[in-house]
Amino acid sequence: MGMKALIIGSGGREHALIWKLKQSKKIDKVFCAPGNGGITQGAKCINIGPDNIKGLCDFAHRNKIGLTVVGPEDPLAAGIVDEFHKRKLRIFGPDKEGARLEASKVFAKEFMRKYHIPTAPFKVFDSVSDAIGFCKSVEFPVVIKADGLAAGKGAVVVKNIDQATQTLDEIMVKKVFGKAGKQVVIESFLKGQELSIMAICDGKSYLPLLPSQDHKQAFDGDKGPNTGGMGAYCPVPFVDDDMLKEIEEHVLVPTIDGLKSEGIKYRGVIYAGLMMTAEGPRVLEYNVRFGDPETQVVLPLLKSDLADLMLASVNGKLGSFGKLDWREETAVCVIMASKGYPGKYKKGVPINGLQVQDNRAFIFHAGTSRKGNRFFTNGGRVLGVMAHDKSLNKALSRAYKIVDKVKFDGAHYRKDIGSRAEQQVA
Ligand code: AMP
Ligand code: GLY
Repeated sequence: MGMKALIIGSGGREHALIWKLKQSKKIDKVFCAPGNGGITQGAKCINIGPDNIKGLCDFAHRNKIGLTVVGPEDPLAAGIVDEFHKRKLRIFGPDKEGARLEASKVFAKEFMRKYHIPTAPFKVFDSVSDAIGFCKSVEFPVVIKADGLAAGKGAVVVKNIDQATQTLDEIMVKKVFGKAGKQVVIESFLKGQELSIMAICDGKSYLPLLPSQDHKQAFDGDKGPNTGGMGAYCPVPFVDDDMLKEIEEHVLVPTIDGLKSEGIKYRGVIYAGLMMTAEGPRVLEYNVRFGDPETQVVLPLLKSDLADLMLASVNGKLGSFGKLDWREETAVCVIMASKGYPGKYKKGVPINGLQVQDNRAFIFHAGTSRKGNRFFTNGGRVLGVMAHDKSLNKALSRAYKIVDKVKFDGAHYRKDIGSRAEQQVA
């Protein structure tokens, strides 16, 4: 008899986690709280929000859930793992203390300084006048970051003192991100290509997943405002074995060791957002959960059983898990977004053409709702069209063939996913 799993969240990442977990013999029923339109096809969606920790605990207890997986950062930062542990429920993810690596930029930067993990030089401020005073002496551009969680919008690149003053005023005085803006980090601007590296941890050891690259800007050629991510591909050809070794040695190992030294038993995924500079990798940020849309391209290449891997993490048994087994292919994901995203957009627009005939492709739903057998837009990022094949180009042509068939009014997507794959690092 397999076990029941509960996935918390409602995006494309959660759809991908469910899609992969359902391939495991260990899992025979999947619930999702709250899920989305597409997820209803693979899991039983239950109407409990990710902030209702007690409700989720009660549900997991009542339904004898064998494995709960947390998608987004907020419930981790709020201590959902600690609450599940109190009730002796198995849950994949770090506890509240570990989640501070994402929930507080000040904590993360000071952690990196303490454990010699390469990152941009920085200063921390809790007074707006001191922060402005400091900006009068810097070489622009610099990056101003609100300390706390700001739904991915808390980092702003500023090019001159006027922009710096305005940004500091918004974050620290007007408090556009609420109490996340009590403190700020101001750091040097780094040049290079961004890279996402995730690793599964069990408090003692870790297993790295394949590196991937997200496309943060809304428009082709990396133009326009930053978004949650407009597409991704995996693996990343400009990252060779030596570079991977450097990332492990200088980033992953000291991060895992640092967490142990802090007395944090970190279980779950650690995700380092890196800038690959001419001087080597630098950590831009940590996330304490799977990336979105990175998960949608990493998991399709993973041949190993995801439930086994997550249970090994939860049970502290990664050391004896062996190596991860990967498909020797490239996976891509093209995000289809609502017109206007990341700004204002309409919801409830009907979606057509969702039938996929390709067994090396899948459409992960993000912001969608379902009425009967009809699907509608229900968010900024609507769908993630994933395809994998022997080469990046073949995977891209499979994915874009499907993108061409999916129709909803105002659909917006980038046509250049993967185009920086062959470029130099910095
Ligand atoms: P963060 O929330 O810290 O990951 O920042 C969000 C995004 O801002 C990153 O993915 C980068 O695109 C950009 N960014 C953050 N820090 C820097 C930096 N020091 N230099 C250049 N770009 C940065
Ligand atoms: N793709 C960026 C993130 O998940 O934070």
